[in-house]
Amino acid sequence: MPHTIMEPFRIKVTEPLKIISREKREKALRKAHNNVFLLPSPDVSVDLLTDSGTGAMSTKQWAAMMLGDESYAGSPSFRRFERTIRRITGMKHIFPTHQGRAAEGILALTRTKPGDVVPNNSHFDTTRANFEFAGVKALDLICEEGLQNDLVAPFKGNMHLEKLESVIKKYGRERIPFAMITVTNNTSGGQPVSMANIRATKALLQKYDIPLVMDACRFAENAYFIQQREEGYQDKSLYAIAKEMFSCVDAATMSLKKDGLVNIGGFLVCQDDTWAEDFQNALILREGFITYGGLAGRDLEAAAVGLMEALDPEYQTYRHATVSYLARAMEQRNIPYVKPAGGHAVFIDAKAFLPHIPPLEYPGIALVNALYLDGGIRSVELGSVMFGHFDEQGREQPSTLELVRLAIPRRVYTQSHFDYIIEILDTLLQERDRLKGYRITYQPKLLRHFTCHFETL
Ligand code: F0G
Repeated sequence: MPHTIMEPFRIKVTEPLKIISREKREKALRKAHNNVFLLPSPDVSVDLLTDSGTGAMSTKQWAAMMLGDESYAGSPSFRRFERTIRRITGMKHIFPTHQGRAAEGILALTRTKPGDVVPNNSHFDTTRANFEFAGVKALDLICEEGLQNDLVAPFKGNMHLEKLESVIKKYGRERIPFAMITVTNNTSGGQPVSMANIRATKALLQKYDIPLVMDACRFAENAYFIQQREEGYQDKSLYAIAKEMFSCVDAATMSLKKDGLVNIGGFLVCQDDTWAEDFQNALILREGFITYGGLAGRDLEAAAVGLMEALDPEYQTYRHATVSYLARAMEQRNIPYVKPAGGHAVFIDAKAFLPHIPPLEYPGIALVNALYLDGGIRSVELGSVMFGHFDEQGREQPSTLELVRLAIPRRVYTQSHFDYIIEILDTLLQERDRLKGYRITYQPKLLRHFTCHFETL
């Protein structure tokens, strides 16, 4: 058997990719108030801002889109969507939503009240924002290993079970309408959660009669990690592992823009009839009728195909090989990153990369902006801008981690794109002393990282 892992596809359609000059990039970033979220995408050469909705679809998905039935009610496209999701999740009630945060919004709207507490291994920012907007306390209970950037451990995304139990005892069952578990754990470096941890989380919650909801955005990548790393799963298919993961939870939210391999879409699923009735009413109010939920029939078709493709072992092997390729090259060049690499991204440790920039001068933003200026590469900060908060005295408190995420879109970039990224990073590391921190000159009240403005110090 050859050792080289090839892309399990060939390219049928290409999209031109421009590399604009450094002067043009400087101008573009100035105009974007030094916030890469505000850049026009044609000014970006390699876009690693997110792996969400940025993937390439297969010929089968494009073909399926032509079968899209755009009827307002009772579309057979919905039946195919529902059947696929039921096959994988085993859930009784399946609701389409236009993306993940819409499912989270409906969950927060219908199943929580102000003063409630929702624990999670780590909330994604939209999940947290949806709960906080509803007056709910969103708690992150990541396991100890997940907080140590350099520690190589197989399941650093796990829930901290002891902390979960003490949270239940502290707030009481009445204030915890449900707990969540996010697979893979995006905000903690895209790290996986083990089947044993999902099971143990469920068992603990069951003792207190608290339901468990899975944030299933990257369930197929998580299933691959379980197959590769957890004892007893080597001979199980990704499909069987995914089914087992869902069998441990009572409901799930998902952004199909990740492991649904589509550009738009999401779902909300559950077993309980009362929950389903609440979801249905909110869905019709917020998203659309129950058989389309804010999506076109063709979107439902593409997702039904994409979900099964994400569970294809050849696809997952290739997917993980691309992330490992980038991580290995970074290791060889002493570029500090969260170890081991996650499923959808490599997370650079900006604190270690730029030790001369203090957390509240945003080392993550300094690195993100330098990657854009030097190479036209767009990445995202997951540090004090995204996760920092203000204490009761109004003082800004930094985040524990200062990370920069290089998220890898699915089936989009080839090995030479990765070699380019590595070269830019390597040069930047040699010249890191020239990088300066930033200060914020404008910020909105909620989710500030998307639209705030920065100025170089
Ligand atoms: N949950 C997780 C774990 C996510 O990573 C995301 C999105 C969502 C929920 C929300 O889904 O975007 O469809 O509304 N993550 C993207 C990212 C945006 O870049 O990590 P959405």
